[in-house]
Amino acid sequence: MTHSVDQAIRIKELTYRWPRQCADCLAISHFAVAHGERVFLHGPSGSGKSTLLALLGGVALPQTGRIELLGQPLTALSAHARDRFRADHVGFVFQQFNLLPWLSARDNVLLPCIFSTRRRERAGDPQQAAARLLTHLDLAPALWQKPAAELSVGQQQRVAAARALIGQPGILIADEPTSALDAPRQQAFIDLLLAETAAANAALLFVSHDVRLAAHFDRTVALAEVNCAATEAAT
Ligand SMILES: Nc1ncnc2c1ncn2[C@@H]1O[C@H](COP(=O)(O)OP(=O)(O)O)[C@@H](O)[C@H]1O
Ligand SMILES: [Mg+2]
Repeated sequence: MTHSVDQAIRIKELTYRWPRQCADCLAISHFAVAHGERVFLHGPSGSGKSTLLALLGGVALPQTGRIELLGQPLTALSAHARDRFRADHVGFVFQQFNLLPWLSARDNVLLPCIFSTRRRERAGDPQQAAARLLTHLDLAPALWQKPAAELSVGQQQRVAAARALIGQPGILIADEPTSALDAPRQQAFIDLLLAETAAANAALLFVSHDVRLAAHFDRTVALAEVNCAATEAAT
């Protein structure tokens, strides 16, 4: 049996229903992202974008169907192995960044190299890799030792991006990462994510409700095109 190694993300016949709900939130017969492909996924608030990302992160499990990341079926792994797989292969940038507020900017960036041997090895010298990413992201060295909580929103976002990118994960997932930024900063941030993922030949799934951001991606997908569940979008 051949593995879908040509696809970084592959979903087949997936359904997902939140506990105590009477309808499926997601019903996706097929969705895939190729290695090195940068995809913009959009949909209104409440349409299930973050739910899909929770499934891709292995945080929630589909009731039916199959999710493969880099050829690995997620459902074939134990909860512990899924956590390991995510730490090794998936970089996440969240809307609220999820930085550890008391840790310095640099130590936040280094976290994946502590949780994942693979990310540490691929980073080479993690300290140098963190410095390179933070420099690329235009974060002044004077800020690297500051606790994340003392950084501005824009600075925290760049730290979150560096943390997702360190150790070159094969898949990068960003959930509304620019929603707290003004337009010029949004553009700069997207350019940076695109450049870094291209350099690593990583697949990028960039999720937003703001279709104005779509222009620079390889492909644009509306969640409604792939999701057949009759979800009611929030008003
Ligand atoms: N933890 C949860 N428990 C139950 N329902 C949830 C939970 N999280 C999200 N939902 C529901 O799933 C639907 C999709 O939400 P979400 O994936 O957050 O949408 P989006 O990210 O597109 O705004 C919504 O109807 C929401 O109420
Ligand atoms: Mg969301």
